[in-house]
Amino acid sequence: MLQVADLKAGYGQAPVVRGVSLEVNAGELVCLLGANGAGKSTVLKSIMGTVKPVSGRVRFLGEDITGRPTPEIVGRGIVYVPEGKLVFAPLSVEENLRLGAYLVRDEETVRSRMEQAYELFPRLWERRGQRAGTLSGGEQTMLALARGLMAGPRLLLLDEPSLGLMPKLVGELFETVARLKETGLAVLLVEQRARQALALADRGYVLRTGRIVAAGTREELLSGDTLRQAFLSG
Ligand SMILES: Nc1ncnc2c1ncn2[C@@H]1O[C@H](COP(=O)(O)OP(=O)(O)O)[C@@H](O)[C@H]1O
Ligand SMILES: [Mg+2]
Repeated sequence: MLQVADLKAGYGQAPVVRGVSLEVNAGELVCLLGANGAGKSTVLKSIMGTVKPVSGRVRFLGEDITGRPTPEIVGRGIVYVPEGKLVFAPLSVEENLRLGAYLVRDEETVRSRMEQAYELFPRLWERRGQRAGTLSGGEQTMLALARGLMAGPRLLLLDEPSLGLMPKLVGELFETVARLKETGLAVLLVEQRARQALALADRGYVLRTGRIVAAGTREELLSGDTLRQAFLSG
């Protein structure tokens, strides 16, 4: 479904992603692990076209989408949920959800997706009229995720959704991600919580200073020293 080949990207002169190749197949949940600053978010932004790759290729459903405009990439079925619970604080929960479907013209589709979102996150239904800025951290994370789903993605790029959540909520969030996978959605999950993310995932990649240093199944990644090494010094 998604194929990233020898991707290089950065900001100005500084290379941050130094030749990353990875794949996500239909229906798979794949995690991209690595320490703070390894370049995980930059990989996701390069896939979305918000950071223009210096070289390398991104293919989605057989088509080259490298550096295409972000709305086009969203329209093709990839949605990026950035780290840091970005919600529109002054708007209500429901208005936030509507904004997630800004590319969807058909009101019937918007309504049915909204129903699905409320089914998945009953707390959001209870708070649908409440201003997003007044939600708890965990609820804002749910809203950011639900808003992403409103675009009707085929592939979801999730950037450290567990960041700043209490341990109990982290468990709930990961259960929700597992349920999304069961609906057939493909997910590329970026996380620093390597063990918990791998517990959900079909496969994983480990990124260290802009390079993939290991790839494999949970068992393969948890055995040996790779993970510990990757988290030692970025
Ligand atoms: N907008 C930016 N401008 C310049 N440097 C950036 C920018 N965003 C990230 N970086 C740098 O790129 C490196 C990788 O960042 P990032 O991809 O956010 O890592 P991660 O998501 O793995 O924590 C870091 O050294 C960071 O300081
Ligand atoms: Mg990041």
